[in-house]
Amino acid sequence: MPHTRPRNPSPIPIPEVTWDSGLKEMNETWKGGIACLGVAVFFVMTIGIIYWQVVDQPSKNWILKGSASGLLWERKARSLILQTLKEEKTVLEIHMRSFPDVDVPFLKDLCWLNKTEFCSTWEAMADLTISLGPSFASSTECYGIHWRPLHCQVKLKDCFSMLNISWYGGATASNQHWPLNSVDIKSQPFIISNLTQNPRAFGSVLERYFLGSTGVTVIIASDIPLSVSVERNKQFCLESPLGADMVPLQYTVCVSPNITSAHQRVGSRLSGQQRQLPETDLLGLPVWRYHGAADSAAKMERGLRSFSNRLQRHLVEGLISLSEHSTALLRNMDNTDLPVVRRKRLHTLRPDVDYSLIKSLKLAIALSPYTSINSHLFQRSLQEGKEDFWLSHHSELSGYTVPLLTRWKGQFSARLNVTNQAAVVWYMDQAKLLKQQLGAEYVAFEGGEGNLFMEQAIPPPPELRGDTYAYTLALMAATLGNTSISAATRASHLPLFHQMNPRQSDWSYAGLKGIIPSVLHYSLLGYNFFIPDAIGGTLASEFLTDEELYIRWLQIVTFLPVMSFCTPPWVCCDDWVLNLTKHYIQRHQNFVVPLIEKYSKQWLSMGYPIFRALWWLSPSDPITFTIDDEFLIGDEVLVAPITEQGQSQRDIYLPGEGQKWMDTNTAEVFDGGTFIRNYSVTIVDVPVFIMIS
Ligand SMILES: *[C@@H]1O[C@H](CO)[C@@H](O)[C@H](O)[C@H]1NC(C)=O
Ligand SMILES: *[C@@H]1O[C@H](CO)[C@@H](O)[C@H](O)[C@H]1NC(C)=O
Ligand SMILES: *[C@@H]1O[C@H](CO)[C@@H](O)[C@H](O)[C@H]1NC(C)=O
Ligand SMILES: *[C@@H]1O[C@H](CO)[C@@H](O)[C@H](O)[C@H]1NC(C)=O
Ligand SMILES: *[C@@H]1O[C@H](CO)[C@@H](O)[C@H](O)[C@H]1NC(C)=O
Ligand SMILES: *[C@@H]1O[C@H](CO)[C@@H](O)[C@H](O)[C@H]1NC(C)=O
Ligand SMILES: *[C@@H]1O[C@H](CO)[C@@H](O)[C@H](O)[C@H]1NC(C)=O
Ligand SMILES: *[C@@H]1O[C@H](CO)[C@@H](O)[C@H](O)[C@H]1NC(C)=O
Repeated sequence: MPHTRPRNPSPIPIPEVTWDSGLKEMNETWKGGIACLGVAVFFVMTIGIIYWQVVDQPSKNWILKGSASGLLWERKARSLILQTLKEEKTVLEIHMRSFPDVDVPFLKDLCWLNKTEFCSTWEAMADLTISLGPSFASSTECYGIHWRPLHCQVKLKDCFSMLNISWYGGATASNQHWPLNSVDIKSQPFIISNLTQNPRAFGSVLERYFLGSTGVTVIIASDIPLSVSVERNKQFCLESPLGADMVPLQYTVCVSPNITSAHQRVGSRLSGQQRQLPETDLLGLPVWRYHGAADSAAKMERGLRSFSNRLQRHLVEGLISLSEHSTALLRNMDNTDLPVVRRKRLHTLRPDVDYSLIKSLKLAIALSPYTSINSHLFQRSLQEGKEDFWLSHHSELSGYTVPLLTRWKGQFSARLNVTNQAAVVWYMDQAKLLKQQLGAEYVAFEGGEGNLFMEQAIPPPPELRGDTYAYTLALMAATLGNTSISAATRASHLPLFHQMNPRQSDWSYAGLKGIIPSVLHYSLLGYNFFIPDAIGGTLASEFLTDEELYIRWLQIVTFLPVMSFCTPPWVCCDDWVLNLTKHYIQRHQNFVVPLIEKYSKQWLSMGYPIFRALWWLSPSDPITFTIDDEFLIGDEVLVAPITEQGQSQRDIYLPGEGQKWMDTNTAEVFDGGTFIRNYSVTIVDVPVFIMIS
């Protein structure tokens, strides 16, 4: 409803005239009285008008109405409120924080002829357009919100309230929480950083998608620079950076009947591309990090051999994963980076290492797009005039192009120019050759994080803005097959595994307690084929010694896609733990892998997460929004491991009112929608329930 009241109505003539006459004829008291009266009337009217405008005005007015929901402007809080029309339930509150100092009594609609569009302007600062639809599905209503700054000093900022709403999605944090209400992240560019180097940043998997427990979703336009901050339990904010580019702030808010249907209708269709499964052989293979000698290729070969024998003797066969350093050692041993002719000449210098031994192992090698400036590879590329194989900066002043340098694993390094087709072909040819030479079946790509240009305060070229590097590297890695990457955005449809970030060896949210929140986060964003950090956490360089932590960690990882180990059980723990490890590996292979394969099909066709939060089954049950120590596999299995040190009992919530759950340990049957209090769990147990129909 447009308001057309005049802002400065001034009944000016009367006071001016009386003022004048008052001055001229001061001795005539009755005239003076009229003058005073006139002044008084003037003040009363002014105060009345001010009161009318500021105090008495309705504090809310409708901006747009759809068929099931509508947007209100709340004058006092300066917020947009999204409400359902039937129950008048508030599903979302957006605080407009772009101009904290400008008072806006009401928003005038400049597009009042159009029922699906609302336009307004903040004089000389910004334009706002809100449009209704198009919607993703019936009973899901969407509003496109588009801010356009009108000069370069305007910083646009919208904040989403966390009062009575639990939020999910966005980016991985090193202290992962579920929901993200209880994290604190200061405003920073919304791009993927290396969480090991920068634990307060955004990391690993990141999507411009947020899901709220009231059934609301927020999707931010993918092509605009964006900063995000989270204020614990209060709000999270989207900001456009200041600058001559005059970056708009643009996002879509949708409301659905409940959180599960919101994710099914909006989040599951996020990527908009045909989803592909990675080859699932890896699911059944435990992954072992090789931690033996790595100072010479010959020593390494012996170390690998004995490690593999030990695994076969004590446990089950698995995949041995090498660090980037070990991979480089084996590569140099063969000089694969040299052209064939020169390699032949160097043949006599090659150390005497038996390749057939290494080839007989199941190996995963590690590669990154970084190359040390001391390496042959890099030197040679420069000699051949291939500066543009590396990310470079063209200096206008000096007229030449110089590769950008950064530090990678202690060495000054250049980074592959993934937008250069020739460079990518050259790099992948080498990767394939190395894979073939070592008989390695799997490749782990690391180092997709970060934006080298932004780190060095150089404006990135358009094709490398934001997270495009990580995305392009993911496309490149996906062509190799059997690969994992460590950083992903907009890449959930690609046939890749995702290596989760390293965790601390403790019980905190940066350690064991954060595993389930990370699992739920990855799966919600469509990254179902993740490799959790190795049991016990790998941020510390030493082997784990805490037996309880090892066992509880092992129990959680059993129910995840890939079991990954770093500390061998014979190093950390008693003999019986070795037996237990074997038992859990078998349980993973026999029980969990088939289940994941079953729900992979649903993921392929519908895009639903494989690992689900409890609210998936009970979207209108607020208890489920904050449970972060239980998860569902598909709709049928509930896992509720112990995540606290020294605990031997816990409360377990079973979702889904009207459903029945069977305890796999005791075959006892419980009702959905209830708590089991003080469920006792011995050190060798993990509570698992199966839904029975
Ligand atoms: C209203 O605005 C929308 C969005 O800009 C536009 O698509 C539509 O055609 C407009 N309708 C009318 C009646 O002008
Ligand atoms: C949050 O919920 C409580 C209880 O349901 C209610 O009293 C309160 O007004 C709500 N707050 C907001 C901001 O909606
Ligand atoms: C959630 O919403 C969908 C779509 O309206 C509906 O089919 C489903 O029953 C709802 N779930 C619950 C538990 O209310
Ligand atoms: C990457 O290579 C392309 C093609 O040679 C070149 O145009 C571009 O400038 C290079 N990008 C960077 C950042 O060096
Ligand atoms: C993050 O940086 C550290 C230190 O440079 C490095 O060791 C690690 O491999 C990086 N992680 C990833 C996933 O690239
Ligand atoms: C992936 O690995 C499996 C064995 O684990 C192998 O059978 C398959 O051919 C590999 N795929 C590719 C594309 O290398
Ligand atoms: C390990 O398991 C095997 C058979 O499953 C059993 O014979 C052996 O006694 C167990 N060892 C220990 C130390 O529990
Ligand atoms: C659960 O155990 C706690 C102490 O461990 C006790 O205080 C509480 O009464 C128990 N609850 C039930 C329902 O048994």
